[in-house]
Amino acid sequence: MSSRADDWPYARVFAHRCGGALAPENTLSGLAVAHRHRCGVEFDAMLSADSTPFLIHDETLERTTDGRGAMAETRDEALQRLDAGGWFGPSFAGEPLPTLAETGRRCIELSLDVNIEIKPSAGVDEATARIVSRLASELWRGCRPPPLLSSFSERALEVAAQAAPGLPRGLLVTAIPSDWEARCSRLDVRALHVHAGRLDRAQARAVKGAGLWLVVYTENDPRAARRLFDWGVDCVITDRPDLIC
Ligand code: G3P
Ligand code: MG
Repeated sequence: MSSRADDWPYARVFAHRCGGALAPENTLSGLAVAHRHRCGVEFDAMLSADSTPFLIHDETLERTTDGRGAMAETRDEALQRLDAGGWFGPSFAGEPLPTLAETGRRCIELSLDVNIEIKPSAGVDEATARIVSRLASELWRGCRPPPLLSSFSERALEVAAQAAPGLPRGLLVTAIPSDWEARCSRLDVRALHVHAGRLDRAQARAVKGAGLWLVVYTENDPRAARRLFDWGVDCVITDRPDLIC
């Protein structure tokens, strides 16, 4: 399942939030898990109060760290003291909250294919997209394939196109909207990323027929993943790289 499709230049399976369900989400430990299972990695990049991109999914720190409060209001110095692994299990206690810069360097060392989800805190779409995409473009300069940027925020995708024109971008949606083709064309994105439970075979065929890459999240059942690949899906993002890679 991990072989590459003709046009899609990345691994066909990406671990969700770095290591899926096998490591604390959005951490460097997760990258090691993905590397072990020979898949790519999807992770979420959000700005701190100092406008530094870190890997985190929620706008608040409570669920995945031992900190409290809003990510957008917390300074780097405080973020760097957090434990982002203890909530997941004692063997991961002390795992740092990684910056995008640290993560990018580790991904390059491990030759991991990367999907960076631009995850703005509310109202910070433009700055998040500009800073994340410029940094990604610097970190991966000369690397092939380049990281794939994605976002639910159309404004973020517009800004990323200006800030890092060399990086491919994908529009993230839950269900495919009726005007998906017009939106993708306006944004000039290379990929459409869709929720696994909201895609059918006819939609998959239409998206592929339009020449877009089709990425599906988050599928954890190997049989369902095989069906998605049969439909022409280019990439499955999963919490279970041990089962699907
Ligand atoms: O990029 C796919 C997936 O990560 C989007 O949902 O909420 O897990 O970031 P979420
Ligand atoms: Mg994500």
